[in-house]
Amino acid sequence: MTKSELVQRIQQLKTEKNAVILAHYYTLPEVQEVADYLGDSLALSVKARDIAAPIILFAGVNFMAETAKVLSPDKKVLIPVPEAGCSLAESCEAAALAKLKEQYPDHKVVSYVNTSVEVKALTDVCCTSTNALQVVESIPREQPIIFAPDRNLGSYIQKLTGRDNMVIWDGACTVHEEFSLEKILQLKRENPQAKIVAHPECKAYIIEVADYVGSTAGILEFCGKDEAEEFIVVTEAGILAEMRKRFPEKNFIPAPPEDSTCACNECRYMKMVTLENILSCLENESPEVHLDESVRQAAERSIQNMVAIK
Ligand code: 13P
Ligand code: SF4
Repeated sequence: MTKSELVQRIQQLKTEKNAVILAHYYTLPEVQEVADYLGDSLALSVKARDIAAPIILFAGVNFMAETAKVLSPDKKVLIPVPEAGCSLAESCEAAALAKLKEQYPDHKVVSYVNTSVEVKALTDVCCTSTNALQVVESIPREQPIIFAPDRNLGSYIQKLTGRDNMVIWDGACTVHEEFSLEKILQLKRENPQAKIVAHPECKAYIIEVADYVGSTAGILEFCGKDEAEEFIVVTEAGILAEMRKRFPEKNFIPAPPEDSTCACNECRYMKMVTLENILSCLENESPEVHLDESVRQAAERSIQNMVAIK
């Protein structure tokens, strides 16, 4: 099938089955085009909770589809590629987090949504890169915290809040850890008017040189409002499609990874989702997300605690 035939068939099936497609900004541009809602991890979680349609197809990685199912247990949540994981979620196994909790029994657990449903079930309150600061600030200052699993986001929040009572998990996003400071500074020398915008999953020395640090939705908003016409974008390159669509008059320069021979500024998991596997998933209404009900309920509490803070 050609691309336009695939798109047409997907649109037809969405209407026939009353299905909606949620997609993250990091997915392929053609996947973003067939989405009913495109967003960052927080917006997509909220959308998954509020949507009325009986079928949700999640174009993204598996923790995102799991989150949708946690919040919408009565809906059919489809995931085209269940093996599309996330290096952060993989760095934090529930059994290991349970052990750490035993070691620090008086700590509250704040987990990034980039975690498995089992980890969310062991969590007091989830956060995303959009609301991590508000979530941590909502916890009394004297209350110690375990922050999992992103060490870069955790250290960034620790620095912003000045809290010294945070135990930070040693996980990282393999995409955001790959950016080269040297190459970013070189780009800045070549484009002195450009502003550097970075995701908080980046290493501290990258965050230090950024003009703006925020989630994908935050970065998009900043680029729209700021008077600058050029931006060096230090996050997964999929977001460039939406940036160029929203702000065609501005120039967006993707930050390169250390190793220029690899496409390391692209998330290989997000790029596993294609028009072909979306179509097959809609046709077969499979693969579908299934969760253990007691784990789901425990995970729901930690996500609802987050949404309530927003
Ligand atoms: P956002 O919270 O900005 O969506 O980023 C999360 C992320 O890294 C998705 O992979
Ligand atoms: Fe996970 Fe990083 Fe990919 Fe986001 S970009 S899904 S944090 S591996």
